[in-house]
Amino acid sequence: MNEHRIDVLFTAEAIAARIAGLATEIREAGFRENVLVVAVLKGGFVFAADLIRALHGAGVSPEVDFMSLSSYRDGTASSGTVTVLRDLETDVAGRNVLIVDDILESGRTLAYAVRLLEERGAARVALAVLLDKPGHRVAAIEGDFVGFTCPDLFVVGFGMDMGHAYRELPYIGHVVAAK
Ligand code: IMP
Ligand code: MG
Repeated sequence: MNEHRIDVLFTAEAIAARIAGLATEIREAGFRENVLVVAVLKGGFVFAADLIRALHGAGVSPEVDFMSLSSYRDGTASSGTVTVLRDLETDVAGRNVLIVDDILESGRTLAYAVRLLEERGAARVALAVLLDKPGHRVAAIEGDFVGFTCPDLFVVGFGMDMGHAYRELPYIGHVVAAK
């Protein structure tokens, strides 16, 4: 049961419209052939699921794989260490790779992912994020395809969680307070 008040920031309809626009942007940027979508678990899976269907609508036929990354970023000893918890099954060499995640915030995790896939010989690596929270960037990385710029609030829904809850919400909301 939901225990918090959640104010809607981006409706399901607004998200769907934006994802359709992103798919067109991605195709127009040259992601047409040999495309591998890398969905970053767990938060990126809902966005990735909708984005691949929007890509189909835009005439792009991607393959899909998944990776799970863990970053340790406690304020004191923030080394930016990233661990691959679940690696890809696909060889990315020569592929046009589109990394898909929920939020770009510090950018540490995604900067690591981009570098890793480049080192493995991807022809091209680009980053699609549903939300950009630019206020806390640490790594030198920007999204190539960004759904929305997000206010500096804690958000949930559309794959994003708070303590493992709320990923199932069909909209993106701001957790305001306990009910
Ligand atoms: P970073 O860019 O390496 O700092 O990591 C961003 C990740 O932190 C996202 O993929 C989310 O998993 C998580 N995150 C950041 N802000 C929020 C939020 O407002 N709600 C839920 N998860 C968040
Ligand atoms: Mg994440």
